[in-house]
Parts: sequence; structure tokens; C-alpha cells
Amino acid sequence: MALEAIFSALSQHASQLSTSSLRQLFAEDPDRFQKFSANCSDLLLDFSKTKLDATGLELLLELARTADIKGKRDAMFAGEKINTTENRAVMHTALRNRSDTPVMVDGKDVMPDIRAVLDAMADFAEAIRSGELTSSSGAPFTDVVNIGIGGSDLGPVMTTLALAPYHDGPELHYVSNVDGAHIADTLEKLDPETTLFLVASKTFTTIETMTNAQTARKWIADTLGEDAVGDHFAAISTALDKVAAFGIEESRVFGFWDWVGGRYSVWSAIGLPLMIAIGPDAFIDFLDGAYEMDLHFQEAPLEENLPVIMALIGVWHRDVLGYTARAVLPYDQRLARLPAYLQQLDMESNGKRVKQDGSAVDHETGPLVWGEPGTNGQHAFYQLLHQGTSVIPCEFLIAAKGHEDDLKHHHDLLVANCLAQSEALMLGRTLEEASSLLEAAGMAEDEVERLAPHKVFPGDRPSITLVHEQLTPFALGRLIALYEHRVFVEGIIWGINSFDQWGVELGKELATALLPMVKGETDPASKDASTRGLLSALRG
Ligand code: F6P
Repeated sequence: MALEAIFSALSQHASQLSTSSLRQLFAEDPDRFQKFSANCSDLLLDFSKTKLDATGLELLLELARTADIKGKRDAMFAGEKINTTENRAVMHTALRNRSDTPVMVDGKDVMPDIRAVLDAMADFAEAIRSGELTSSSGAPFTDVVNIGIGGSDLGPVMTTLALAPYHDGPELHYVSNVDGAHIADTLEKLDPETTLFLVASKTFTTIETMTNAQTARKWIADTLGEDAVGDHFAAISTALDKVAAFGIEESRVFGFWDWVGGRYSVWSAIGLPLMIAIGPDAFIDFLDGAYEMDLHFQEAPLEENLPVIMALIGVWHRDVLGYTARAVLPYDQRLARLPAYLQQLDMESNGKRVKQDGSAVDHETGPLVWGEPGTNGQHAFYQLLHQGTSVIPCEFLIAAKGHEDDLKHHHDLLVANCLAQSEALMLGRTLEEASSLLEAAGMAEDEVERLAPHKVFPGDRPSITLVHEQLTPFALGRLIALYEHRVFVEGIIWGINSFDQWGVELGKELATALLPMVKGETDPASKDASTRGLLSALRG
């Protein structure tokens, strides 16, 4: 069957399925959980609470086969230039290739260079952590500030928080926003004499990062003298010539390559701040976890393949059932920045409206991705998830155990809340059930009638749940790689290039043109009335 024929079969099947609820599907099949769950070692994906049956799943797998997921996956791992609009290979998987197998890009094995950078990062991280490499005054560094934005910030910032129990190095800080408040509030707490800056930028041209780096440089030069600057800076970039022009000496520059997309770069030298925080060995565990998922993605049959299943569920929700968003709900406070990280990964990759060949897409593409950790979100926006007019598929994440052995009762509560939410979304509460509960509480009949509709939960709302043993460096690496491959598979089905990001360019160009107008150096007459009005309000 051709792709479009499968899509119409899926739509027909969805209307048939709409007559039965998730409640009924569970009641009819005691093995539903076994049939609609899959594993990658201790990582479990439960998708039994999505509105799929065996026929729906088989049609989705047919979609994956017809879209040639396997062929395109193999092309990515083989270093083919699948990022066609930038004419680049997509090789973040080589960064966590833990085997001895060479990885060829443009006829060259890239593994020796990758290992050399990893070794240089480890030497530098150990020297900072041990105090062997000191500040200009000979003091050990107590604080490291990473200056970067987007992919040069979100990966390290998210993983640093996630792996807090493994920190045994200096304290990490992150500055990303060009808003001066960000760097001012960060520097306020720090002592220049014991602070090291990492300037992280793939292109080394990003205005936010360059502006923050210059402010940090001035802070060091003003307080410790110009000669101290070299000791307090290191850089991470693919643009080694531009780093040299900034004045950071070669031995403190950690490179990566144009075949690593910004939002896929946490595995590269961009991960240096994480390595400084948790140490090289734990960083290698993080890479090992991602490698396990890479092997699973390459080797597991489609019907047991976690990234493929999650992608197919994404397509089912977005294109067949028409849901516009998905909520990422980690029941793990240390994954507080995961939703923001996945926003960039997913929305910058799959927020596209044309196919690889430039023609308009045939289907809706990437959804709005958002979320907050549980249980906090329960007391904020879950009202809408349960009783709002829009259905928003939810993605729950939970570990079997936390790191606080003496606080196990907290973790039990966390688990109970996580499971309760997916159960509530699935089951809902009927008018009859709501009325009976009110009657049982002794309420008068007319009051029951008045209040019961407010206490109805429509239910039948889909969710998936990811469970792992514990949020270790290994488990985190595996989880991120899972989401990366899921985004890739969805992009293949939609026929888009998930690895460029032209949509961020127009705003950058217009900001550059507006700056002299904001400063009052040029006349905004060429601008539209709204922009002129706002400019004049801002300039007073
Ligand atoms: O927002 C666009 C973008 O290019 C992202 O893709 C990237 O992660 C971010 O800016 C930062 O870019 P760089 O690492 O080159 O400073």
C-alpha cells in the first residue's frame, strides 16, 4: 500500500475505534498491557493507554515500512548527507559509538578525531576538578560558567540538573539569554578569582553568546587585569578560526564538527560542562546509555523498537486524531528542564512545512511540545488535561527508585501520583459515577444534579509512560537518544528534513536591522506602523 492509502486506512480505522473507549479496550483484553508495551533493557514503554488496537498498530507499522524507516536509518548511521538543505551528514551517533567500528564521513573515519577530543576534554575536566589547572592567581576553580544558547546550552543545562547526585566537581552555572539580567544575576554571586568561563557556540557568531562572552571577558579583565583573561576562558566550537580571533588559546579549545546539529550536540565537546561536574567516567556512562539506544534502534524489529513505536504514536495522534500538542510530564524534579530540552529537539527539528524537495507537506507535522515535572503540574495545568475541551496526549516518565534512600516515602508518593494521573486520564469518571459518589456523601438530590456535571471526567485521554530503574548517567543518555530517534522517525514519515532550522533566521536578520533603530542611529520610517509605534513607546 502507498503511504497515502495507509493514512486513509488509518483514518477509517480511527473512526471505527472512536465507538469504543480505552476503558472498554482494557475490559475486553486482559493482556492489553503485555501487547502494547515494549522494553530496551530496564527501560519500559507502556503505550497500552493510547487508543490503539492490533489493527491500528499494524497499519502504523506498515506506514513505517513504506516510509523506509530502516533504509533511512541506515543511511544516517552510514554518514550519508541526509541533511540535504545544508549538504551535511548527521552523525551525532558517532559521538557515542562505543565500539571499535570505524564511522566514515566523506570517505574518512571520524572516530580517531572524536576520541582525541574526548581525551582532551577528559584531561581538561580532570585538571579543573583536581585543582591542577588553576586561575590566574593559582587558586582552584570553584565555579564554571557555561555561556551558550539553544543547543549549546539546553543539553548541558538539562543534564547537569538531571545528574545532580553525581556532581563532585566545581559548581556549574549557565548563562544563555542576551537579557543582561541573566549574566548580571549569575556574576553577582561569583568570585572572578575562582571562576572559569566556557564559551560554547557551534558557529561562534551567535549574538547572544558573543555579547555575554564579551561581558564576562570585561568582568575578568576589569577585576583581575587583562593578563588574567587567558586563564579564565575556554571555548567549544566548530569555528576554530573565530575562537582564535576571540583570543582563546588553542590548548583550551574543544572542537566538534558540522555534522553535529546544535540540538544533537550534548554528546560532543558541548557536554564539557557536564563532564566537569560529574567527571569523565560518569560522562562515558552517559555516552554508553545513548549507544545502547542506538543499537536498539538499529537492531530491534520495528514492532519492538521504542523510538519507532513512539514516533508512530506521535503520527497517530498528530495526523490521524488531529491532536496539536503533547505534554512531557517527568515525575522527577531533576528532569525539570527536560520539557524545554525536548521543545528544541522536537520543534526545531520537525516544525517544518515543506518536504525535502521543497513541496508543501501532505500532513500536519511536529506538535507543540511542553510540560513541567509532576507533581507540580498537577496543581497548575492538569485541570485542562482532564476536563478541558482539547485532548492533549501526555508522556509520563518515572524511575523505579530515586537517589534519596532515606526519603523513600516521598518516592512512593511520586509513583502513586504518576500512575494515578494516567489512570484518571484513561478511565475518567462518568456522570453516573460522579452522582453516586455525591449521593453516598449524603448530598440532596437537587444538589447532586447541580454539581455532578462539574465532577465528570470524559476520560479516554491517551498517555504513554516510560519507566526506568533510576536516573543514572546511563539511563539519561539512553532516554535522550530515544527522543532523538523518535523525532527522526517522525520526520521521515512526514518527508521533511529534521536537521536544518531555517525558521530561526528571519527573526535574527530583522533584529540585526532593528538594532540601529533601537539605538536611535537610523530612522525607522521603512518599518510597518506597529513596529514604529512599539519602537517609539520603547524609546520614550
Ligand atoms: O536557534 C538557532 C540555533 O542555530 C540553534 O539551532 C543552535 O542550537 C543555537 O542557535 C546556538 O547556535 P550556536 O551553537 O552556533 O551558538
